[in-house]
Amino acid sequence: MTNILTMDDFNFDNRTVLVRVDFNSPIDPETGKILEDIRIRMHGETTIKELVEKGSKVVVLAHQGRPGEPDFTSLEQHAKALSGILGRPVRYIDDLFGEKAKSAIREMKSGEILVLQNVRTYTKECKKGTPEEQAKTEFVQSLAPLADIFVNDAFAAAHRAHVSIIGFAPVLPSVAGRIMERELEALAKALESPEKPCVYILGGAKADDALRISKYVLDNNIADYILMGGVAGHLFLVAKGMDLGRLNIEFLQKKKLMEFVQGIRELIREYPERIKTAPDLAIDVDGKRREISVEELPTDYSLCDIGTKTIQQYAEIIEKAKSIVVSGPVGIFENEEFAKGTKIILEAVANSQAFSLVGGGHTVAAVKQLALEQKMGYISTAGGALIEFLMGEELPGVAALEEAAKRNP
Ligand code: 3PG
Repeated sequence: MTNILTMDDFNFDNRTVLVRVDFNSPIDPETGKILEDIRIRMHGETTIKELVEKGSKVVVLAHQGRPGEPDFTSLEQHAKALSGILGRPVRYIDDLFGEKAKSAIREMKSGEILVLQNVRTYTKECKKGTPEEQAKTEFVQSLAPLADIFVNDAFAAAHRAHVSIIGFAPVLPSVAGRIMERELEALAKALESPEKPCVYILGGAKADDALRISKYVLDNNIADYILMGGVAGHLFLVAKGMDLGRLNIEFLQKKKLMEFVQGIRELIREYPERIKTAPDLAIDVDGKRREISVEELPTDYSLCDIGTKTIQQYAEIIEKAKSIVVSGPVGIFENEEFAKGTKIILEAVANSQAFSLVGGGHTVAAVKQLALEQKMGYISTAGGALIEFLMGEELPGVAALEEAAKRNP
């Protein structure tokens, strides 16, 4: 693992601990209620529980949504959910670093938990900066003197150089929480020395990410095969010279994805045998699934899933794999007519002997829907951070912990 300190490296008894978690959850736009509490549960049952058991005064920092978006809400209901998960009181305070927050922290006793206001209510939270710059903000300057240790458990937000992610590391002893530690270990295993053959299954709509990941894992000889699905897969078909039909091309244009075709074309030219695209597809004909082979393209209908032949071909490759990474569903699995590809592919991954790493919000939702959680090697709840990590990018949140470890060896 990277050179960072963990919760094993400090005594937490009676210490005031600032713990940055990623509670960011899907919110029902109508009711404003949390739809899925997996992230709260994950941090609650590991890092926060352990800190409480070790006698810390646990001050929780988290974000929910982005300012201006409908999911930008208070963390009051997150605090309630955490209380339910832990079966103990959790105090919420509607303040981040003002007098109310500071006196609430000062009043805390060993084993108590306090959730502060959504960190993104602080207008400078999301302004990028270096750890040293972020450490000078009022937010850090106000809270750091009240705390003994900073625990960063927010792997899923570690790709953000935000104040609450990197600003405390230069001024407090700083360690990775258990989720951060677990994610880094599992992902390093998937990336650094994957057992061969290693297969990446890339779907979803983020075709630009799919291109960058594919290039990285092929150039670095990490992946043996890339199996393409979803909208990203459609773009790979375009790069192979196929005409998908006006409707599908317009969709790719609207999503501003066509600009990646040239890069994909070059990648396919370099690795023609290792990048697999669908030989057949499912189209939406008046709400019903119909399958066509790619030779039958162009089509007047929307492409919504990979076809049966593709599923079979991909499943054979999956069966022989020793390690598998899945990022993005291969079809519109939310619609039952087009769930077949995602369902059979994920089942094949779950039933294979390979170490499997599954990540990204939609993919994890599909795995949960299919009740395959227990059969996967590792499920990462991170979306953007996972993508950055898989592309070999340095995550600012992790880099800040590395710097802190150098100061506190
Ligand atoms: C996520 O859900 O990917 C993280 O919480 C980061 O959220 P952001 O993309 O709004 O920074």
